[in-house]
Amino acid sequence: MTLERTRVESLLDRERERFAAGHPRSRQLHERARDSLLDGVPMNWMTRWPGAFPVFVSSAGGSAITDVDGHAYVDLCLGDTGAMTGHSPEPTVAAIHEQLANGITTMLPTEDAAAVGEEMRRRFGLRDWQFTLTATDANRFMIRLAREITGRPKILVHDYCYHGSVDETVATVVDGEVRARVGSVGPPVDPALTTRVVDFNDVPALERELAAGDVAVVLAEPALTNIGIVLPEPDYHRRLRELTREAGTLLAIDETHTLCCGPGGYTAEHGLEPDFLTIGKPIGGGIPIGAYGFTAEVAERIRAHTIPEATDVGGVGGTLAANALSLAAARATLAEVLTDEAFERMIGLGARFERGVAETIEGAALPWSVTRLGCRVEYMFAPTPPRSGTEAAAAHDSELDALLHLYMLNRGILLTPFHMMALMSPATTDAEVDRHTAAFAEAAAELTG
Ligand SMILES: Cc1ncc(COP(=O)(O)O)c(C=O)c1O
Repeated sequence: MTLERTRVESLLDRERERFAAGHPRSRQLHERARDSLLDGVPMNWMTRWPGAFPVFVSSAGGSAITDVDGHAYVDLCLGDTGAMTGHSPEPTVAAIHEQLANGITTMLPTEDAAAVGEEMRRRFGLRDWQFTLTATDANRFMIRLAREITGRPKILVHDYCYHGSVDETVATVVDGEVRARVGSVGPPVDPALTTRVVDFNDVPALERELAAGDVAVVLAEPALTNIGIVLPEPDYHRRLRELTREAGTLLAIDETHTLCCGPGGYTAEHGLEPDFLTIGKPIGGGIPIGAYGFTAEVAERIRAHTIPEATDVGGVGGTLAANALSLAAARATLAEVLTDEAFERMIGLGARFERGVAETIEGAALPWSVTRLGCRVEYMFAPTPPRSGTEAAAAHDSELDALLHLYMLNRGILLTPFHMMALMSPATTDAEVDRHTAAFAEAAAELTG
């Protein structure tokens, strides 16, 4: 079955009008913000929400967001994972309040630092940990350290990956040549000098690129999540680990999004053995924090390369990194919010969401598919789930993407912008998932009826 484009366009026009008419206060605030903020938003990618202006938020709590026009939304975007805990979870908020009254940042460790280090070690299996303010920083510092201890210049990433605004990773491959991705802003150096790029699940390409012997570290999400979800084929991680070991290349697994697989992320669920693990976003319950962990062997190599009197010079660090507030928030979040029991519930909700979408796709004979990774679910405009970032990118349909985001927004449901992704929090309910299923079925009927 193919969808009629004129029908997609007319539905999109209707939903745009409905959105504009229903959000006068957001429109006003956007107009006001245009006087002081570039394009009326405090961070440029907020313009990527569908509609002529973004929704302005008045409050968020648990799985819900309320906007300045008084609409309540089921939030399945959850700050693109920054609020995977649900908004303002009580134990985290209590710990933050307590810490706020006792010093926010001192450039000295607190007991919370040791407790969070122990918990990260228990969950992910890596021995030593360091903390940053963001996952981007965790990746940047990890890459610096990997280069330093291997003496090699390059990293290897998957095509269409996202690891934050890390210069070396904003790269793609076109006709066998590495280039900056469209949208890479002012690349500092030609990424062909710093980066090798292979498609996800492409073992021969991995083998070929690692054979050059110049790759310090492979930085990989265990499943791609930023170009739609792309799952690894059954043998991919085994081969990735074997090939990196053979090549003397380190392996870094970025669990920032794939924490959705369980308390120890994809790594613990599937017994991966990375040399480094990086993470950020939800582990502070919304308070900025990132982390990178590494094996005892890597720790020894780092020590051997450390000049004690120059540790504040070398491109790894941050004055506010590992501040007392971040670590207090992370301690409470890990101990009391993102618990084993919470993951069990969240993953059950993800399966419920996936079932609802799959049944609708099948019932309406839509040429779409749905993929789940723990409590994260994505629907894609291709009949079979993509095997690589390239296939996932090819399935992108900006009109359908805009239509479905707006359709959901107008019916009180927020999906992650940029692609059709939904994430479950400990506060999400069955009824909220079913509300999405009903709206999705309504959209499917209008598109095909
Ligand atoms: C896998 C992955 N790593 C790192 C990051 C960077 O996170 P942050 O923007 O919080 O630094 C992201 C952001 O989406 C991500 O998806």
